[in-house]
Amino acid sequence: PAVDPALVEKGEKVFKKCKACHAVGEGAKHKIGPHLNDVFGRTAGTADGFKKYSKDMVKAGEEGLVWTEETMAAFLAKPKAMIKRTKMAFAGLKKEDDLNAVIAYLKAMPE
Ligand code: HEM
Repeated sequence: PAVDPALVEKGEKVFKKCKACHAVGEGAKHKIGPHLNDVFGRTAGTADGFKKYSKDMVKAGEEGLVWTEETMAAFLAKPKAMIKRTKMAFAGLKKEDDLNAVIAYLKAMPE
């Protein structure tokens, strides 16, 4: 299904909350957190060249966690509820609208 451009635009605004730590888009580099290009379908904790994952994130990936719309929504809603000692210092997105929007934005981003 086609992505809703208005949702993507809202997601770009929501992504301001992530930008201190994450880059996405052409040429994106790792920052405090890994770049988020091609994150959907990727096993958690496996972005090439990112060395600062928590043990719990790497373990979650080894146990089969793959980033999908569903798993990412769960993580972003309350990171520590999903990955207990995650290094992602972020309280979470409280509003379902914001979650849906930021996920749509990440899905719409080119590499
Ligand atoms: C990990 C998304 C906010 C720092 C991740 C991962 C995703 C993500 C999908 C897993 C990546 C992977 O497995 O390769 C987001 C989004 C945010 C956000 C969409 C905003 C809504 C932040 C903020 C910070 C941060 C504000 C820094 C204060 C990190 C770090 C990791 C991470 C350090 C690695 C966590 C670990 O290994 O436990 N983020 N993030 N993120 N993020 Fe974020």
